[in-house]
Amino acid sequence: MSDSGAEQKYIQEAFDTKWVAPLGANVDGFEADLKRYLGGEKEVLALVSGTAAVHLALLLSGVGPGDEVIAQSFTFCATANPVKYLGATPVFVDSEPGTWNIDPDLLEQAIKDRIAKTGKKPKAIVPVSLYGMPYQVDKIAAIAKKYDITLVEDTAESLGSKFNGHNLGTIGRFGVLSFNGNKMITTSGGGALICPDEQTKKKALCFATQARENFPFYQHENIGYNYRLSNICAGIGRGQMSVLESNIAHHKHVQKLYEQLLDDVPGIKVHTQPASGQFDSNYWLCTICLDPELRIVGQERAYEGAIRLDSQPNDNVEALRLMMDAAGIEVRPVWKPLHLHPVFAGCPAYTNGVSEAVFKVGMCLPSGPYVSDDDVRYIVDTIKNAIAN
Ligand SMILES: Cc1ncc(COP(=O)(O)O)c(C=O)c1O
Repeated sequence: MSDSGAEQKYIQEAFDTKWVAPLGANVDGFEADLKRYLGGEKEVLALVSGTAAVHLALLLSGVGPGDEVIAQSFTFCATANPVKYLGATPVFVDSEPGTWNIDPDLLEQAIKDRIAKTGKKPKAIVPVSLYGMPYQVDKIAAIAKKYDITLVEDTAESLGSKFNGHNLGTIGRFGVLSFNGNKMITTSGGGALICPDEQTKKKALCFATQARENFPFYQHENIGYNYRLSNICAGIGRGQMSVLESNIAHHKHVQKLYEQLLDDVPGIKVHTQPASGQFDSNYWLCTICLDPELRIVGQERAYEGAIRLDSQPNDNVEALRLMMDAAGIEVRPVWKPLHLHPVFAGCPAYTNGVSEAVFKVGMCLPSGPYVSDDDVRYIVDTIKNAIAN
């Protein structure tokens, strides 16, 4: 976070120029800043949320009722909800253990099986870069190309992450960014669609502004949405761009510190990027896994009084969450794989056990720009103290 001076300046300009509206100089400026940051080749459309960006990406990929879209299962619901908005069916594919992102082999199996079962190809593939970790970009992009299926990168969590030096979100036909309050930079709420060219951006803009056609009067030929980012929020975004690099450096630093301080703690493993040199995660969130054998104080009572579900984090993970909460530290379990949620029951799922296993043992640690080195030490000490002797 900046000291808010830069953000305030742009917000004030919006008021001074009387552009308190979902368009104006800040919206244009924020888009230009993002475009420059992403290398200048792609166009960027500022929107009210990352979810809106996923929705428009799928819409412009031609997804409609009766279609199927392949989505990574191990992710937040916003990756797949827009598939449902469009009357299509998400087909979930499990993760590979190295990155926790979509498994290339399983993806190809799923594509072949969907074609065999339905007689048509899925309309899009939506990999996610979970907690900032790049997915196996080269392999997934090659599969999308081989089957000629549109690649929509859900890079909501990974602004600043790279694969082989390329910014995530600029590799597929579309990329998605989120500027929600907890993200690498924030506009309080907001998002962006990374588009391949100016013409596609124009189409997306039309859908984002109620599909108002370019006439001097109101003319509508499609159903549109009210998805444009406000000039006030875009002002926050412009200010935030000045701290993006330092935020990324901070997240990476926090990750390293957790790695060092937890290195000698038996039963706790910090999730790190593969060592091939291709992966450059922004480490949006540091995640750890708890060995099922690790005993946490009070784990016998962890779910006391709570409804037990078929699939939930292990007792030691919940016990640690409660201990941390009592110490004033908010930690969260990793995302529950989407194929396990009742709302997606009945959607095809191609699983290998990876995401379900990580869901039982995984936990996200505080990693944001306000987390200091002393905070990390306090968090690690609290974890150590929670381990039963
Ligand atoms: C993987 C993923 N996709 C999509 C979104 C949606 O972004 P937003 O909250 O801006 O709608 C989020 C974040 O919240 C996310 O984590």
